[in-house]
Amino acid sequence: MSEIEKTEQLHHDWRESENERKMLSDMGYSQKAIEYYIRKPYMTALVDADHVSEMTGTCGDTMKISLKIRRGMIEDVGYQVLGCPGAVASAMAVVDLIKGGSLENAGKINDNDVFKALEDMPAKKHHCIQLSVKTLHKAVDEYRRKESKIKTIN
Ligand code: FES
Repeated sequence: MSEIEKTEQLHHDWRESENERKMLSDMGYSQKAIEYYIRKPYMTALVDADHVSEMTGTCGDTMKISLKIRRGMIEDVGYQVLGCPGAVASAMAVVDLIKGGSLENAGKINDNDVFKALEDMPAKKHHCIQLSVKTLHKAVDEYRRKESKIKTIN
């Protein structure tokens, strides 16, 4: 790709993301939620994850969470989301709420905590928050069960 083509592509991408921002803002997403969706800061699969869980919502959207845990603390978290902007924004907000904190705290995160972190979301998108929290809780429960099995065996 030539330098001119690269510059044109950049302008095109910028216009696209500006249009997307405006559309989401008109729908009722806060600027913070839009930033999470556009930047997707934690959209990744951790290669050295200690645990991975997946969940599909009734809408068909799917999330996968990977956790890196050391001595009960969450060192790193990544989400992979196949779904709507609300699902992506919610998952990213969950990471900011739990990364660096205890597994115990992660198990207590609720829909309201995520809603507050996002500042605002369209009412019909609240189930996206629920999906991100359910995926997290599933991962925490499964990891705890796995750990207690290992302790019982040893
Ligand atoms: Fe399914 Fe958003 S529409 S999680």
